[in-house]
Order: sequence, then C-alpha cells, then structure tokens
Amino acid sequence: MTRKYLVAGNWKMNGSLKANAELLAGIAAQAASVPDVDLLVCPPSAYLESVGKALPAGVQLGAQNLSDQLKPGAFTGELHGAMLTELGCRYVLIGHSERRALYHETDLKAAEKYRTAQALGLIPVLCIGETLDEREAGSTEAVLRRQLEAVIDLCGIESFKSAVVAYEPVWAIGTGKTASPQQAQAAHAFLRGLLAERNANIAGSTQLLYGGSCKPDNAHELFSCADIDGGLIGGASLKAADFMAIAAAAQALAKA
Ligand code: 13P
Repeated sequence: MTRKYLVAGNWKMNGSLKANAELLAGIAAQAASVPDVDLLVCPPSAYLESVGKALPAGVQLGAQNLSDQLKPGAFTGELHGAMLTELGCRYVLIGHSERRALYHETDLKAAEKYRTAQALGLIPVLCIGETLDEREAGSTEAVLRRQLEAVIDLCGIESFKSAVVAYEPVWAIGTGKTASPQQAQAAHAFLRGLLAERNANIAGSTQLLYGGSCKPDNAHELFSCADIDGGLIGGASLKAADFMAIAAAAQALAKA
C-alpha cells in the first residue's frame, strides 16, 4: 500500500500579514519541485482568509482548531467548521498537545471535535503523544492507545478513511529534542497496529505524521521509517527554506 507523504506546517500563534506573504512566496517558488508530496499550511484563524487567497498551487489550507458544535450559535470566541470550509480549509488540527495542556482539552473533547470536523466536511489531523513523564514511566503505549481509542470509540474505525494522525511526543515539541527514528517508528508502528486490529485496509492507507523538532537535517531519516508518512512541522514551518527542504526530503523518498 503506497501512502502519499504529507508535510504540514502548524504556524501556531505566529505570523503577520507581511511575514505570511513572504512565507507563502517562498513556498510558492518551490512548490512545483515537490509534486509527489501533499503540502498543507495551518495559519492562525485570523489569517485563514488572506492566506487562502494567496495559497500557492498545490498547497492545502488547514485550521488549528474548531468548535465542537455542529450548529452555529451563541458560542463567543468559537469558530464553526462551516466557517473554516467557507474560507477554503480542507483540514483542521484536532487535539494538539498545546490545546490539551494549556486549554484543558480532554480525549473526549478532541474526539468530539474530530467528529464535528468530519460532519462538516473537514479532514481532521488528530494529534496525539506522550509527555516526558509518561515516557519515563513506561506508559507511552498506554497513553497513545487511550488518546487514539477515544476517537475510535466515538467515531468508529471507518472514520479513519478520511483522517490523518500526527504522533507528536510532547517532549520533542519546540525543544530541539527530536525523537530518534527508532522511537518515532516504534510509536507509529504501534498506532498503525491499533488501527489494523480493527481494519487492516484502513490502517494501511492512513497517513501517520511525525511532529516534534522535525527539521531539514533530520527529516530524511524520520521519513525513511516504514510507518512515517510525513511531518507536522512547527518552528521550521515558519521559514520557507526550511519547510520546503523538509518537503524535498519527502519528495526524494517518494521518488526513490
Ligand atoms: P516544533 O516543530 O516547533 O517542535 O512543533 C511541532 C508541533 O507542535 C507541530 O504541531
């Protein structure tokens, strides 16, 4: 089963009209050189419209969060999924560890947002991963299982026909401490195994991304792993040269 590589930029709460325009111009200049890689940018919601209008050919737009509500209404500060699709979003990040840790999003809340995203026509990028304490306590697999099964239980295995899963060990995010290819591959194989217990075909076709200090100098090694289908990139996605160098690593493997 061949899975396409996906390289996604999570801009987090960064950017400005000027910086975004420069970043997009840099991506546009090189997007044609990675024809076999899916590219995605996830700017802050304030910039979805302007980034959507300036999106280079071949690059998809994603949001970083959405409301769990199926219908619009009196939910001050929230963003309804239909608003995101109207602005051109195809994807939305769900359950990023920063939302779990800083905004108290539970496994169930992430699952509900994932369900709402799909109901409103968005592809969820479900983010899961263990903290350093959890890894050191030997509970990495239990944590990954709990986070993934919360979604499988609520939405079913069939829902993964139209979803992406991002393994992002919390201790590797923004720290410069990348998971080793062996650590990342072990987690990815475990996650694919959990999906395969329910449906081997779906497990074989689901894109599993690695995130956490993924940079141009480690992307090739990570993406070479059998169960790693691309990356969810934070810091390095803010520099066009770095983001596209990571995409080029995926392109080289796609063609190899
Ligand atoms: P960094 O690439 O900055 O470590 O961030 C990873 C991440 O959280 C992407 O969602």
